[in-house]
Amino acid sequence: MKANIALLPGDGIGPEVVAAACQILNHIAKKHGHTFIYREALIGGCAIDAKGTALPPETEAICLESDAILLGAVGGPKWDDPRARVRPEQGLLGIRKKLGLFANIRPIKALPALLDGSPLRRERVEGVDFVILRELTGGLYFGEPRFTETTTRGERSVDTLEYADFEIRRILKLAIEIARARKRHVTSVDKANVLETSRLWRRFATELASECPDIRIEHQLVDSCAMRLITAAQSFDVIVTENMFGDILSDEASVLTGSLGMLPSASLGETSRGLYEPVHGSAPDIAGQGIANPLAAILSAAMLLRHSLQLEAEAAAIEQAVEDALDLGARTRDMGGPLGTEGMTEAVLAKLA
Ligand code: IPM
Ligand code: MG
Repeated sequence: MKANIALLPGDGIGPEVVAAACQILNHIAKKHGHTFIYREALIGGCAIDAKGTALPPETEAICLESDAILLGAVGGPKWDDPRARVRPEQGLLGIRKKLGLFANIRPIKALPALLDGSPLRRERVEGVDFVILRELTGGLYFGEPRFTETTTRGERSVDTLEYADFEIRRILKLAIEIARARKRHVTSVDKANVLETSRLWRRFATELASECPDIRIEHQLVDSCAMRLITAAQSFDVIVTENMFGDILSDEASVLTGSLGMLPSASLGETSRGLYEPVHGSAPDIAGQGIANPLAAILSAAMLLRHSLQLEAEAAAIEQAVEDALDLGARTRDMGGPLGTEGMTEAVLAKLA
């Protein structure tokens, strides 16, 4: 097949890990007779430096013309001034909104080879295998009004938490679909004891539950969900939640398996065009040293093949090669090993060959 892939390396270690992922994609293309055409564009801090905006119009255009987007990371101390008018994160939020990527999928799976890297005891992590499905284009992140003003009693800021009917229903429906291909268990996370938006969310989740008797749907308050992620992570299959809760819970979940450096994510909308990125950030402290773990980007590329290009066998081959490389003992620094970005990429390529 022939596909257009937009590359948005971004900031920090983004360019290094995206380059590694492209090496893997190129290998797959060659082996399976596909043609991947890449177009690179600026996003985040590097775009601010070059163009004065975190999401330049040409970046938007390139993304809109592509079949899928692979992103590295955005942000860094250089652009962190809270008073700045333009911020790298605006690039990421902007492209999510522009492309209608309302669903963020973050799979969390414990690999036997990495269990000892978990902050939790082995018996609490063994067998952990769930996905967080985070609503990505609504809620506090995008609600209006939002402003800071000076009043007679000092400054005052407002953010708005808003959800429309259809935004809640579509993400809950997707949770059901994902659960159907897994263990048929959905945990819908809200704060229905306090928030109006959460009560609406819970009502729709309850309605959906009665329409889908084949799926076990449970409700859980976000605070107790945070606790259960530590005490009983094995009990989850699909967690579905709103934007902000999902942001927080997914960072918590990402360290459970001792492998933050290898967690991928997919952001999907109504069409097959998705955006794929590692869960880890731009890691400015190790940028440019060739030591970043490329596995999260490589596994994000696998998700890209699966969800946007429908290349399931190729995606599974990459995932298997990563597991095989880890079983053989390949480890980057963050995993307590000696390998750099290139060494780890080579280890995966060797297993793919
Ligand atoms: C994430 C990140 C982003 C978010 C930031 C960088 C805007 O934390 O993808 O989880 O909050 O969505
Ligand atoms: Mg986050």
